[in-house]
Amino acid sequence: MKVIIKHTNDDVAKAACKLLMEKHISSTSKNFVLSLATGSSAVEMYQKLIKQNTSGNFDFSDVYTFNLDEYVGLSAEHHQSFRYFMNMKLFNHVNIPEANINFLNGMATDISSECDRYEERIAELGGIDVQILGIGSNGHIGFNEPETPFESRTHQITLTQQTKNDNQRFFADDESVPDKALTMGIQSIMDSKSIILIATGKKKAKAVADMIQGEVTTKCPASILQTHNDVHIICDQEAAAALTTSAD
Ligand code: GLP
Repeated sequence: MKVIIKHTNDDVAKAACKLLMEKHISSTSKNFVLSLATGSSAVEMYQKLIKQNTSGNFDFSDVYTFNLDEYVGLSAEHHQSFRYFMNMKLFNHVNIPEANINFLNGMATDISSECDRYEERIAELGGIDVQILGIGSNGHIGFNEPETPFESRTHQITLTQQTKNDNQRFFADDESVPDKALTMGIQSIMDSKSIILIATGKKKAKAVADMIQGEVTTKCPASILQTHNDVHIICDQEAAAALTTSAD
């Protein structure tokens, strides 16, 4: 694991954007396959990618995307769906062909087929080149909550109360966070050639320390990343506060 600690959110986003662009340029894959995360952690990096796209430095026309997860019961048009979030934060502002965007369907009636379809599509495109991750305050990656088996593939999960509380900020007061979500599994994430995890803010400090310095255990799903051979953790000082290293 390479751990990069930056002073500000902006520095974190810059470093993540730069690394992703380097991976894109040096990729030898037939299709460049990028898997993306929702939530606040990656938003500033998406803003930087939009700028790079607008200025002609990052071409999305040959990029295929997947996203880690989607709430069950929310359609792509629902304002709290992750698909809607990605449209607003990235897809609507870059030259990615619509056909290159892959997403889990939260309205699928046959959950098992939907999960299989997603895994098959990832395989058809040659696997994920770069996986962008955030981390939950309980150490989740995607929506793989504590105790999810490390060998899991795309599946339905019941969200913990902690995750629902954390994500309530994206919903109106009279709306609740759905109880269930579809998420790529931990093995689906680990199969990615390269992983960039972004963590900012003091709420992430314990999860970040457990991920990097704790034992590899399903109690902290992100701890499995210690066993991957190409992982960059890019975090700000607040998220790194429980580590012993200091900022660049
Ligand atoms: C969300 C997503 C994750 C994300 C994490 C952290 O609910 N399912 O993919 O990485 O929780 O979110 P945030 O970046 O908003 O703190």
